[in-house]
Amino acid sequence: MAEQTIDVRRVAGSLGAEIFGVDLSRDLTNQTYDEIHEAFLDHQVLFIRDQNLTPPQQAAFARRFGPLNEYPFVKGLEDAPEIIEIVKEPDETINFGGVWHSDTTYLDNPPLGTALYALEVPAAGGDTMYANMYDAYDTLSDGMKHMLAPLTGVSSAALRRSGGRAKGIGKTSTMTPLNMDKAETITAEHPVIRTHPETGRKALYVNSAHTVCFKGMTEEESKPLIEYLCNHAVRPEFTCRFKWEIGTLAIWDNRCVQHFAINDYHGERRRMHRATIVGDRPH
Ligand code: SIN
Repeated sequence: MAEQTIDVRRVAGSLGAEIFGVDLSRDLTNQTYDEIHEAFLDHQVLFIRDQNLTPPQQAAFARRFGPLNEYPFVKGLEDAPEIIEIVKEPDETINFGGVWHSDTTYLDNPPLGTALYALEVPAAGGDTMYANMYDAYDTLSDGMKHMLAPLTGVSSAALRRSGGRAKGIGKTSTMTPLNMDKAETITAEHPVIRTHPETGRKALYVNSAHTVCFKGMTEEESKPLIEYLCNHAVRPEFTCRFKWEIGTLAIWDNRCVQHFAINDYHGERRRMHRATIVGDRPH
């Protein structure tokens, strides 16, 4: 194999790495893509600073990982319909994604990954946190792993405890809401423990934004265990926290990562472009 073209530097003990030496606006060689993909599988979330990307260029990079999804609840951009703009205006108080979650687990095929690109960021704050769901699974007791192994989680688009999608969109934000009346009906069932299709590792796949209950159990019966698992999943030692700069692109693996957009920058504007990559049906 030719000499490595990218430089990979870990940002925390559990997950996350910064990548240096790549210009994502260009067509990546297969070798560079393979190195990025390997780092993606090894570190679960990658941060690539100092990029200058149009929406079609961002979409082209994300498409190296697979075809792109259209997000069900926000209209995409004119020149790249698979990309949505995530905006919080200075006069808004609710943000998008301000709760621990893996993206759109209420879809039968939730996204493999998400590529998020920063266009405007507050002077301080607006960081995003990430948590490693392999570590969340690996650190459960054998008894808990055994109990969870046969369970199926039910995710609903209507739960969305973050409130951002339900209440914030269409108020002062430029995010154009779509299909909000359908949220109640969009649900999916997925294993509570999923096996990553590329690494073969097991990951906890329950999140507080979308997982409503376990299949065959009531919400009331399910709640204590869902809450326990969601709290366990985001123990500080399983996380990293990233401070954005304009021009940073992050790409994370939704199959083994949860994320949380911190809402601590009221009075300032934050604007991002987000593309999601089609995933397989979890098993
Ligand atoms: C998201 O949940 O996809 C948004 C994350 C962020 O804005 O940091």
